[in-house]
Amino acid sequence: MQRKEFLDKISGGLALTCVSCMMAACSKDSSTSESNPNNNGNTVLLSVNLSNQLLAVKDFISSKGIIVVRIADGNLASSFVAFFNACTHEGAAVEYDAASNGFVCPRHFATFSISGSVTGAPATTPLTSRTVGVTGSTLTVK
Ligand code: FES
Repeated sequence: MQRKEFLDKISGGLALTCVSCMMAACSKDSSTSESNPNNNGNTVLLSVNLSNQLLAVKDFISSKGIIVVRIADGNLASSFVAFFNACTHEGAAVEYDAASNGFVCPRHFATFSISGSVTGAPATTPLTSRTVGVTGSTLTVK
């Protein structure tokens, strides 16, 4: 195979590949809210084994962009709160603060109550809450 023939074959293949990629990208852009598991409300974002985690009130887990805190005894959905851990100011990961029983952002120190409402600037909107479910000893966050 001559060099020119080889290059022609490669460049033709790349062109087809790029057109294919662009078409895929366009189809994703048009359905972002439907294909994003964080937005559909039905996808399990985090699963926790309650037989060895979140055993005591104020125990918490921060994982996969979710922060879960046990707020009461018992393995009921109402025994927990869960939020996306992204601060509503500029997106830094908030941390649970057991002393205040709320959340603190380490970047600019916005604070949030245990229910996610803003208690200290610069954030102005609440944390985004997620739905907690408990089946047996498994907690799920959607
Ligand atoms: S990013 Fe959280 S207070 Fe600014």
